[in-house]
Order: sequence, then C-alpha cells, then structure tokens
Amino acid sequence: MNIINLRKATLQDCEKIADLHKDYIQSGFLSTLGVPLLRLLYHTIINSNNTFCIVAEEDKEVIGFVSGTGDIKSTYKHFLRRNFLKASIVLFPKFISIKTARRIFETLFYPVKKEQNLPAPELLSIVVDKNYQGQGISQKIFKELIEEFRRRGITQFKVVVGSQLIPACRFYEKMGGKLHSEIEVHKDEKSRVYVWEL
Ligand SMILES: CC(C)(COP(=O)(O)OP(=O)(O)OC[C@H]1O[C@@H](n2cnc3c(N)ncnc32)[C@H](O)[C@@H]1OP(=O)(O)O)[C@@H](O)C(=O)NCCC(=O)NCCS
Repeated sequence: MNIINLRKATLQDCEKIADLHKDYIQSGFLSTLGVPLLRLLYHTIINSNNTFCIVAEEDKEVIGFVSGTGDIKSTYKHFLRRNFLKASIVLFPKFISIKTARRIFETLFYPVKKEQNLPAPELLSIVVDKNYQGQGISQKIFKELIEEFRRRGITQFKVVVGSQLIPACRFYEKMGGKLHSEIEVHKDEKSRVYVWEL
C-alpha cells in the first residue's frame, strides 16, 4: 500500500464522494435518492461552516471519506435553502410513491423526534473503498474527524447507523462509541445510536 494522505474535501471531490456513498451505503435512504442529489448534499457539506468532509487519498485518488456536522437540522435547512429548486426537480417524481415520500419526511425530521435527548453534532457518513478496507484507514479518518470536532469546540457527537450494518456497528464500537439506544428512523427499520464524549 502506498502512502495514504488525509485532507479536507474540496468541491472537486463531490462526484467521487457521492459515488462512494451510493456504492457502499446502499441501505441508507439517502442513497436511494441517487447520485445527483448526493452530489448536491456533499456540495453543501463541504461548503458550509457547520459541516465538514475529510477524504483519504492514495496517489491523489480518493479512496474514502468521513463527513460530520455540528447540527443536522441546520445542514438540511442550508441544503434546502440553497438547492430547493434542484432538489424539488429530482425529488418530485419520487413523491409519487407514498412510501418514498414518507421516508423523505422521516429522514428530514428524525432529528426533532422527542425521545432522543442526544448531542446535535453527528458523524454523517464514513466509507472506505473495499480494496482498502481492513487496513486501519477508517480508523485514521475517524481520528481526524475527532480532531476536527475538537477544533470546533465540540465535546460530544453521535452516529445513527442501520442495526443491520454489522461491520459498521463493530467499527463504531471499536472506535469507543457507547450504544445509546435503538430507534426507528424509518418504520420497521432499526437504527443504532452511538455516542462519543471527547
Ligand atoms: C465500516 C467501514 C468504514 C470500516 O472500514 P475499514 O477501513 O475496513 O476499518 P478499519 O480497517 O479502520 O478497522 C478498524 C476496526 O473496526 C473494526 N472493523 C472494521 N471492519 C470490520 C468488520 N467487517 N467486521 C468486524 N469489525 C470490523 C475492527 O475492530 C477494526 O479493528 P481491527 O482490525 O484492529 O480489529 C467499512 O467497512 C465501510 O466503508 N463500510 C461500508 C460503508 C458503511 O457501512 N459505513 C458506515 C455507515 S455510515
């Protein structure tokens, strides 16, 4: 393996990051929205003060990333304010399906569900290309995410992950995440919430 470099993502990375998200987080609802919307979402994440994205690259090729936010509600608000028209065009056909429409609302509004009492800062997504998994790269990216949260004065954060994503759950446990609860972001689909104190 060559040297793996970590750096802040730039807007030029959006396409690759969206592709990695789509390919590796298939059970997540965001993936079902398709690459164009994911690109817009990561564009917002990279461009906003409250969010960030760190990429891992080998020979200038992005092979993994992590994204985080200080507050998912303001991320979605920022995203919709900037991209309302484009998002509407992409999302409109999907609203024809009641099930998809419901999932869109569940995704947008899960942060305000009462039962949670959780820190607002959140790890949004982490992916490493399969050819590079099992080599400690995610661990390195994760440490950089923690440093970035610390630089922002954040002392707690959470992740919401599909309970069926066993490797991801094991990874978060190995990274010191404490299982807080199991919730249903979408009906009949369990998600685990892990929390970190920095
Ligand atoms: C989860 C994921 C990011 C881990 O990436 P990785 O680069 O393989 O992880 P690392 O090599 O840094 O592993 C660090 C530790 O995590 C744990 N871990 C990682 N993958 C694991 C797996 N498949 N099974 C069990 N434990 C695992 C191990 O404890 C490992 O430490 P060890 O090797 O000393 O035992 C990767 O599997 C992935 O991209 N999955 C698809 C996307 C995804 O599900 N993301 C999370 C939801 S947002």
